[in-house]
Amino acid sequence: MNFLIIGASSGLGRALAEELAANGHNLLIVASDERDLQALCSDLSLRGTGIIDSFSCHISFGDLWLDQLKKKISIWGELDGIFLPVGWSSDEDYICSTSEIINKIVEINFTAVVKIISYCLPIFLAKNKGYIVGFGSVSSLRGRSFNVVYAAAKRALTSYFESLRHALAATDINVQIYQLGYLNTSNNWGRKLPFPKADPVRVAQNIIKNLNGNFGSIFFPRFWSGLQYIVRWLPWVIFKRLKF
Ligand SMILES: NC(=O)c1ccc[n+]([C@@H]2O[C@H](COP(=O)([O-])OP(=O)(O)OC[C@H]3O[C@@H](n4cnc5c(N)ncnc54)[C@H](OP(=O)(O)O)[C@@H]3O)[C@@H](O)[C@H]2O)c1
Repeated sequence: MNFLIIGASSGLGRALAEELAANGHNLLIVASDERDLQALCSDLSLRGTGIIDSFSCHISFGDLWLDQLKKKISIWGELDGIFLPVGWSSDEDYICSTSEIINKIVEINFTAVVKIISYCLPIFLAKNKGYIVGFGSVSSLRGRSFNVVYAAAKRALTSYFESLRHALAATDINVQIYQLGYLNTSNNWGRKLPFPKADPVRVAQNIIKNLNGNFGSIFFPRFWSGLQYIVRWLPWVIFKRLKF
């Protein structure tokens, strides 16, 4: 099959690309760093029998990057599914942030994902088949004073995916969003976190194994499906004291 991966150069996106390439799929991998993508492209081509292509674009305010990406997708050929593990967060994302940080976080984590899906959806609708896989975060379970805009963007993304699944309920297009806990990716290296970090390779293998699953939204690692209730319903007098 032919898959588009947005945010394929590191972390979970890279793990997904490696697993899909090893399974013989054709890939169009997208990220901002051209050199990372070139190196990954060569590596992936050796792992499987599929054709691997790459496209570098810097998701930012405005639609120039989107027009370039659309052009690339249209000449790339058939598209069977998209994975969107793109994301960006900042240590300066407090309750007051600069416009630059706010725009960048919202654009990369929410607006860009919606724009890309909106372009690809007619391709899937035309053949009544396709896979759309997005990535939320447990940080959006309950607002707190750190990662403020990131959490809001991920919650918006979850709402968008609910709408997407509802709108496509009568089709064979499968919509999934993974609500991820901490991952053992470069963002978290050296960080002391309150819960264990998941191996992105294990997460990627699970995502691919469950590609046809009709669950809509799911927590991963799975212990978060229980933990979410504690985070959501922890009494305010306790929650307000927590620093995480
Ligand atoms: N890490 C965690 O603990 C965690 C927890 C919960 C949810 N998540 C979510 O899970 C997903 C994967 O996380 P991860 O840690 O694997 O991410 P990551 O390692 O930071 O990778 C993010 C990917 O997005 C691309 N990207 C970022 N900004 C871009 C831009 N402006 N234009 C184009 N590409 C851009 C990066 O490529 P370039 O470097 O080339 O820009 C990279 O390929 C994300 O949606 C993240 O929000 C992560």
